[in-house]
Formats: sequence, C-alpha cells, structure tokens
Amino acid sequence: MNELTIRRPDDWHLHLRDGAMLKGVLPFSAAHFARAIIMPNLVPPVVTVADAQSYRARILDSLPDGVDFEPLMTLYLTEATSPDDVAAGHESGLIKAVKLYPAGATTNSDSGVKSIDRVMPVLERMAAMGLPLCVHGEVTDASVDIFDREAVFIERVLAPLRERVPDLKIVMEHVTTKDGVDYVASAERNLAATITTHHLIINRNAILAGGIRPHYYCLPVAKRETHRQALRAAATSGDRRFFLGTDSAPHVDPSKECGCGCAGIFTAINTLSCLAHVFEEERALDRLEAFTSLNGPAYYGLPVNSATVTLKRLPEPIRLPGKIDTGAGPVTVFDPMFALHWQVC
Ligand code: DOR
Ligand code: ZN
Repeated sequence: MNELTIRRPDDWHLHLRDGAMLKGVLPFSAAHFARAIIMPNLVPPVVTVADAQSYRARILDSLPDGVDFEPLMTLYLTEATSPDDVAAGHESGLIKAVKLYPAGATTNSDSGVKSIDRVMPVLERMAAMGLPLCVHGEVTDASVDIFDREAVFIERVLAPLRERVPDLKIVMEHVTTKDGVDYVASAERNLAATITTHHLIINRNAILAGGIRPHYYCLPVAKRETHRQALRAAATSGDRRFFLGTDSAPHVDPSKECGCGCAGIFTAINTLSCLAHVFEEERALDRLEAFTSLNGPAYYGLPVNSATVTLKRLPEPIRLPGKIDTGAGPVTVFDPMFALHWQVC
C-alpha cells in the first residue's frame, strides 16, 4: 500500500505552551490535526474556567490565517478546584476534561494533587456529569523506582479510585507499560488510555545506551522493550480503548541539554509519518485510522471529523528539520532513528 486516506486525526494529549513557543509550535499540530486536548500545565497552570477561556483565545489568536483547529480545553485539578466552576465550564461546552497531576510527578505539576480525598467532591461531580478525568499515572513516592511508578500508581491510586467512583470516566494518559495496557484492556467501562508516538518507537536504551540522550527523555520515562511491544500491540489492535495522545511537549534545547534536563519530546511535526511507519511494520495500516481518528472521539463522545488526510509512501525518505526555531528558542524534533517515507499530503 502506497497511499492511505483516513479521517482527519485528533491529538488527545498535547502541550502547546504559551507566548512565542505557542506561536512557534501550534502550526505543526494544526497542519495535521483537527482537534487536540490541550494540557493545562502552564506556569501558572490553567486552573479556572476563566483561565481556560483566555488560554483558548490565545491559542486561536496564534493560529496561522485560514487554518482550522479546535483546542479542546482542560482544567488543571488542584486541591482548591471548585466543583461548581468545573460544572459550569463543562455545561458551557468549553471544558472537555480535567487533568490530574500527582503533585511533583512531572513538568509544572507542583500545584497538583497530594491527596485524592481532597478532590473527591470534584471527581464525584464530574462522574455525575460524564466529564472525563485525564490522569498522569505515576506515583511520586521517592522510594518507588522510576521504572515502576506507573504499575504502582495503578495499584495504589487508580484501582481504588475506580472502585470509589465507578461512574467516573478516566483516561490513563501516555500509558507506557504492559501493566498499564493489561489493566486498561481488562476494564469493562469508563477507562481508556492514550499512547504516544515516541513510546511506540523507543525503549529506555534510546535514552541511556552509548551516551545520555536528553531528547529521548520524557515522563513517564520509556521502559524496557517488552513494554514497547505491548504498547504496539494495543495501539495497532483496533481496540477502542486505545487512541493517540502524542504528548508532544516542546522544551527549548538549553532546557534539555543541561545538568538537569526537562522531560518532554517534541513530535508534533512528524507524528503521522512515524505512526504510518509503525503501523506498516506491524501490518496494521488498516487500523491506523481507528487509533488516530475514531477511538478518541468515540470515548470523549464527540463526532469524528468529516475531513480526511491522505498519507503517501514516497520512494525516497522525506526531509524534515532536525530542529525548529520557535521564537522562544530552538526545539529539537523527535528523531525516530529510522528513515521516514510516509508523508502527509
Ligand atoms: O515528558 C513530559 N513532558 N511528560 C509530562 O508529563 C509533561 C510534559 C511537559 O509538560 O513537558
Ligand atoms: Zn503530557
């Protein structure tokens, strides 16, 4: 197969940042994706409906002329979040999900949640309204090995939470382990997972073997090969519970290439080319559309996009920049370590 036309994809987990960086990276997502769930971990975070309204306006202002793109706004859950504010945001149609960051789990998560008990009133209200909770699924307990933090989160936090609020619709964001995949696949209802492009392509060797490579460092950190294989099987299975959330997370190069580098991989430019490559390798190109364009809207209760995109397999490798200049500084583009032949037309 050398050509594939699919419904226009959506990105169910995207970091766009703000200011010059927002202007620099948004055109790449908007070129390929119709909609994206916009992560709220700005500094300061997007905690109220008023914050989300003004952030949405800044995103729309930063769009290139004539480009259609719908930012699906989220709120950053804190222990001070008001259930009434969340409910009003959902009823107005602005807020499509609430994001739970365990405090200290990742970039700009300091205002996140320390105790689930303190956010129960918000979660119960969300369950009653059918508003999804997006979860960064890692414990922050310093005694838990960083490679085990997802599995331990399922056991200590996610499973008890689902028992407590069975009607709460949850998305386990950027699942990275076989444990996570198996847990999601065993759920009858109200649980789904996003999978990133990069976790389908790299394992932890990319970060650590033969030299330390900060541009492959993200959170949750890539795991060993068996986990990558489980993620590939889930993504290419067509199972409606798994869909694309790129977690494209730009940081300027000096913030990555330093003594304590930031977590985040920038894939907005080449995600679809990478995914077509992965799905072709797995002989599952016929299921790419389910992963990128059908399963996400079905879970979020939104219509699928009516527009389409066509991908073509070119005989020669396509050319993409190794880094982009964003106005906030240079941002390195994810290098999948293989030649890309699939181009979005
Ligand atoms: O790698 C990551 N980068 N993981 C996250 O959870 C946050 C993100 C960011 O905002 O940079
Ligand atoms: Zn993220």
